[in-house]
Amino acid sequence: MNNEQMTTSLDDYITGLFGQDDEALRWIQSEADRNDLPQISVKPFEGRLLQILVHAVGARKIVEIGTLAGYSGTWLARALPADGKLFTLERSSKHADVARASFQRSGVADKIEIILGDATESLRKLSAQKPFDFVFLDADKTGYLKYLDWAVENLRPGGIVAAHNALRHGKILAPENDDDKAMVAFNKALADNKRLDSTIIGVGDGLAVGILK
Ligand code: SAH
Ligand code: DHB
Ligand code: MG
Repeated sequence: MNNEQMTTSLDDYITGLFGQDDEALRWIQSEADRNDLPQISVKPFEGRLLQILVHAVGARKIVEIGTLAGYSGTWLARALPADGKLFTLERSSKHADVARASFQRSGVADKIEIILGDATESLRKLSAQKPFDFVFLDADKTGYLKYLDWAVENLRPGGIVAAHNALRHGKILAPENDDDKAMVAFNKALADNKRLDSTIIGVGDGLAVGILK
């Protein structure tokens, strides 16, 4: 078995045990497909990992950068208490429309505000509502450094910043494009940031996680 086959088998093993989609989550993925959205959402077992982190910090206010069809947003919102709030940022109005239907379908719409527009501008306005408990980065990789700076300034102490695709399926070891290089720079900045205790959890495509001191 080569490395790639081993990774796939281990992913399947973890999915089989812990990370199961339910009907609403499967519906979201089929809507994403039907609307020709890219199939780049988190995997079920990555959604479960996000939920565990959200529960562990007792998060009530979450910011997600990169909504797509609302798949990861549904996992995140389900881990919030009834009066919790997820702000999810998306620049594509088509993606935001699909996500709006997804959040209705999965019954979490009343906990979610979709903020349409470029994330940098949306974050600037969202600062007025700080502090936040959890920030999830999953949009343009070349924006991650900027989003990290925002997270450090807008999280409460003990809050978590989590970033998807930290491993770029191994390409952080031999970067092939600007996104790979951006992730290498992001992981280094996270590691060097003195205000955070950080690591990369090697589940799925890697979740880089930092907790604010
Ligand atoms: N978190 C989602 C996947 C997000 S894919 C999930 O796991 O289900 C990345 C999304 O980020 C895309 O929908 C893309 O349109 C959006 N995006 C990319 N760059 C952005 C930016 N600068 N501002 C806002 N959204 C952005
Ligand atoms: C890409 C982006 C993602 O957030 C992801 O999870 C997978 C792929 C991409 O831009 O190719
Ligand atoms: Mg991603």
